[in-house]
Parts: sequence; structure tokens; C-alpha cells
Amino acid sequence: MCGIVGYCGERDAASILVEGLKRMEYRGYDSSGISVGFDNKLTVIKKKGKISNLQAALPSKIPGTYGIGHTRWATHGEVTDLNAHPHSDSSGKITIVHNGIIENYITLRKKLSENGVKLLTETDSEVIAHLVANFYDGDLERAVKEALKHLEGTYGIVAIHADEPGRMVGARNGSPLVLGLGEDEMFLASDVTAMMSYTKQVVYLEDGDIVTVDKNGFKTTDIRDNERDKTVSTVGWDIGEIEKEGYPTFMEKEIFEQPQSILRGMSGRLDIDQGTAKLGGLNMSSKDLRLVNRVIILAAGTSYYSAMVCSYLLEKIARIPCSAELSSEIRYKNPIVDPNTLYFVVSQSGETADSLYAMRELRRKGATVLGICNVVGSTIPRESDGGVYIHSGPEIAVASTKAFTSQLTAMYLFSLIMGRMRDMSMSQGKAFVDAMDGLPAQIETVLSQNAHIKTVAEKYSDCTSFFYLGRGLTYPIALEGALKLKEISYIHAEGYSAGELKHGPIALINEVTPSVFIVPKDSLREKIISNMKEVKARKGPIIAIAVEGDEDVAGIADDVIFVPEAHELMYPFLMVVPLQLFAYHTAVALGRNVDQPRNLAKSVTVE
Ligand code: G6P
Repeated sequence: MCGIVGYCGERDAASILVEGLKRMEYRGYDSSGISVGFDNKLTVIKKKGKISNLQAALPSKIPGTYGIGHTRWATHGEVTDLNAHPHSDSSGKITIVHNGIIENYITLRKKLSENGVKLLTETDSEVIAHLVANFYDGDLERAVKEALKHLEGTYGIVAIHADEPGRMVGARNGSPLVLGLGEDEMFLASDVTAMMSYTKQVVYLEDGDIVTVDKNGFKTTDIRDNERDKTVSTVGWDIGEIEKEGYPTFMEKEIFEQPQSILRGMSGRLDIDQGTAKLGGLNMSSKDLRLVNRVIILAAGTSYYSAMVCSYLLEKIARIPCSAELSSEIRYKNPIVDPNTLYFVVSQSGETADSLYAMRELRRKGATVLGICNVVGSTIPRESDGGVYIHSGPEIAVASTKAFTSQLTAMYLFSLIMGRMRDMSMSQGKAFVDAMDGLPAQIETVLSQNAHIKTVAEKYSDCTSFFYLGRGLTYPIALEGALKLKEISYIHAEGYSAGELKHGPIALINEVTPSVFIVPKDSLREKIISNMKEVKARKGPIIAIAVEGDEDVAGIADDVIFVPEAHELMYPFLMVVPLQLFAYHTAVALGRNVDQPRNLAKSVTVE
């Protein structure tokens, strides 16, 4: 969603800010703007639409070596130039950028208006600039702190003042803010990608931190002026990972990275001799794990479907009751917390508001909550009781692909640990380890069919509705396949358990509504084949994802995409990849903006 970038140093601030905003484009936004300070004046330029609109509106040279920038994803107020950030106070001396939601903004707007302040925008954020101005008495840090006392809600904020050149004041409460330390220059951003071309030395700010920054250093305090110590971390990935490196889109690059990202997620974690796995970050002993008698996995979006796969798997191999729950639902259910239930929150970004708030509610009730996240230093891993980083590397395309298979990897490893403590024998464990070890090479084989998948996708790209059908472990894969198609091609697609076909969806089967059947070689194969015949009898076109050599399936389907034969529990990995490519090529055929689909955000940081 919204992105913040701030810079103070010796270089041309405008170009660094625009570059930072472009790096954050992937998060999803609908307008952007910058404010640059020079000669006791701030120049503010903001435009709705893509950053290219902002660039077109910028004069050839904006002098100034400090400033702030923002990409906005509209929540309060329409997408207009005026509602875009930065927002200014009435004098134009102060500008702010804000991520999050100010919940009491209506009251604050009313009070400000009563005091004669003219509010120019429809946003909740503008009140911050006026409040800071209200308390300003020659000290921006002081004024920001006083303003914060009046704000209710969530925020990541950066403010600058024309009379305090080269200084930025940032504050964080519920929306991420990271400080970047360069040589004679400093950065503040909501996302490390914004500053990665310049520094890898960062400080992840925490809720309640207020940071005052100039090019030579920074000071972190709380609202009562107590100093807060910070540790500097080094970002563990390189700039190349957030560049397309020859691929036309980030999504295609990320799909093709999966053999390596899965390998990274397993590396050092498989115990071949004992047929089990090791996950150091769980912060739980074997004895603690043995006491767990139920597992609940919370997540949103694609992460929810990986959670669902693992709820099936864990029950199957560890015989522990396990369910996946939508974060947005569990939070308001007044969940019953049993001391022997272990909770996981799965989140690529580690910042999804629904998942974060659900985790806080559960921990408030005394639950142990572990995180399964990708973004190092993000809020969920920092606030959880422990967890696993999936190490898929930065995922830039809005539609999640490699993070999904890396989440599966982490949860497969956890399931293996739990399985080996309970129901699984050493030889079953070893077979599972072997099967996981073989996944990268098998996924390479799936990827080598890209051209065939593209042809199939193009053949069906003018259809307006699809069904995706799977069962058991691959039922969530059907849901994920349908989600991918919706997200990036805007074609209506529904995922169903194939067992439910006759309970409703079959009424919609006709010559122009294709069904994508996911047919692993497992105990449910025959039943899915029967469902395929039912669809065929009603003239429905069928695309099947099947196991190499499955002639029965090939004989019924109109088009087949084969995956290599594998351990029956590994098909979720192998069968999701063709569905990612199918959605990708459909979207490309329709001319969609694959990496930044309309209305979607990479990380949904508001409820
Ligand atoms: C958004 C993204 C999805 C993602 C979901 C959950 O909707 O567009 O791709 O799956 O959020 O995000 P998380 O970061 O918690 O996995």
C-alpha cells in the first residue's frame, strides 16, 4: 500500500526521492508526490496516477538536498492530485507524509476548522501537518511529539520544515518505518527497497519511536523524550534481487526463481540422517512441541491458501488437529485460546494489518504465536514468540508466487518435525526428506514447459469464467490457481473442492466455461476423474494438471499440463507452478499490467 521515502544528505533529493518511490511501486498506489526543501522554502509536487505523471510534472531541476516523498493508496478521499501526499500546513513551511489511518481525524478536522484552519483535502492525513504547525515553536521534533499526543490510529510519519533545512522527523505507530544510514546521508522509508541503491545499513524502528535525523546522524526517543537504543542491521539481500534481470516482469522472474527460493528455504534445515528437520527460530523445545495438541494457522490472501495446504498436511502426517483461519475473521470471533494450541501467522510481508492485529489479540489472550514470514525485520516476526523466515528473497510482483511455495516449504518442514515426534517412522521421514530435496529439480522440469503452458493459456484467454477443482491437499491449490487468475487477468474464476461440483457449480458448466482439474496421483485420483467425466458430459472444456504418463486424464481433458511423478505429498508444489504460469500468460495475452494489477496492493496495511 502507501509508501514513504525521506532523504537528507548532499545529493539531489528530488531524484533520490523519485527513485525511491519507483522502487516501491510494487506495493500498489494511485498517486504520488514529493516535497523538497531549499532556501527556506519547500517545493511540493503531487500527481494522481503513475509516478511517470509525477515525473512529467517535475521541473527539470528542483534544487534541494532534503525532502520527503509518498505513494498513496487511497483510503480517505478520492484519487486526486490534491489528496496525494505530501500534505502541507497553511503556511507551506511544513510538509508531512503519512501511512496508516488517523481514526479521530473527523474530530481533529472539526477542531482545526473551528480554529480557522482551512483544510484543503479530504484525507485523514492532512490534519497531521496542521497539528504540527499548531505546536511549532522553532523545534520540529517537539512539535511532532505534541501533535502525536492528539492522534489516534496508526501511523508511519515523516515531517520536514523549511526553516530546519536538512532535518527530518519520523514517527512510527503500527506502520513500518526504516532508517537507512549512508555516508553523509540518511534515509527514512516504509520499505528498505526505497533506499537499497544507497545503503544496506538500516535500523528498523519500533512502535513508539520518534527519530530525528540529519545527514550526520540520528536520535531516537519516545514521546516523553526518553532515549531509545537502536541496533543497526545489514539487509541480507542485494539490489539485483529487486531488479528484473532480463525478465519482462517481476512475476515471471519470481515464478522462475522457485527452484532456488525453495532450496534456500530448506538449506541447512533438512536432517537427512534422522529423516526430520530443524527450525531454530521456533524457540520451543521438543518437550514444548510434544505438548501441542492443536495447531491453528492464520493468514490472508495467498498466504491463507498455503496455510490451508499445511493444515491438511499436519493432520495427515502428525495426527494433530489443525485448521487454517482467515486473520480477518479470527480477530473478531473472540477466539478461545487453549494453552496447548500453537498458533502460526503466515505473512509474506509481515505487515498485513488483519494478520498483525489477529496475532496481537491472540497474544493478549496468552497464546503462543509463531510467525512464518519473508520480510526480515517486519512487524509480525518482531512481535511474535518465534518463527521461521522463509527466505524467498524480495517478492516484488503484487501477485504472490515464490513466497507461496516458500511458505509451503517452511510449513512442510514444521509438519515433518511434528510428524516425526508422533506418527511418522524414520523411513517415512527419510522418504519425505528425499522428496523435498528433489523438489527444486522437479520444479525446473515443470518450468521447462513454459511454452506449452503459454499456448494453452492463449487458447482460453477469451473465456470469461473458469472453475478450478481439486481435492485434499490440492483443493487449496485450486483456490490459489483461481485467485492468481482473478488477480492479474481480471477474469472471474472460482476454486472449488471437486467433491462439491455436484452441489451447485455443475449448474454453470457449459461449452464456454473451462474447468481446470488438478489431478495428482493419490487416493482421490479416481474420484476426480469421475468429476472430469461429469463435466465432459455437459460439454465443458477441461484443462488438466496431471502426472506425467496419466493417459486416463489425457484421454478426457482437452488440454493437459504434466508434472513429474513425485511423493504424493509434494504435488501442491508441483501443481501450483503451472497454474501460476497459466494465469501469467493469460494476463499477458490480455495486455494486463501483470506486476501491478488494478486496485491491489502488495501489502495491505489497513483493515
Ligand atoms: C495482499 C496481496 C496478496 C497477499 C495478501 C497477504 O492481498 O496482494 O498477494 O497474499 O495480501 O499478504 P501477506 O504479506 O500477509 O502474505
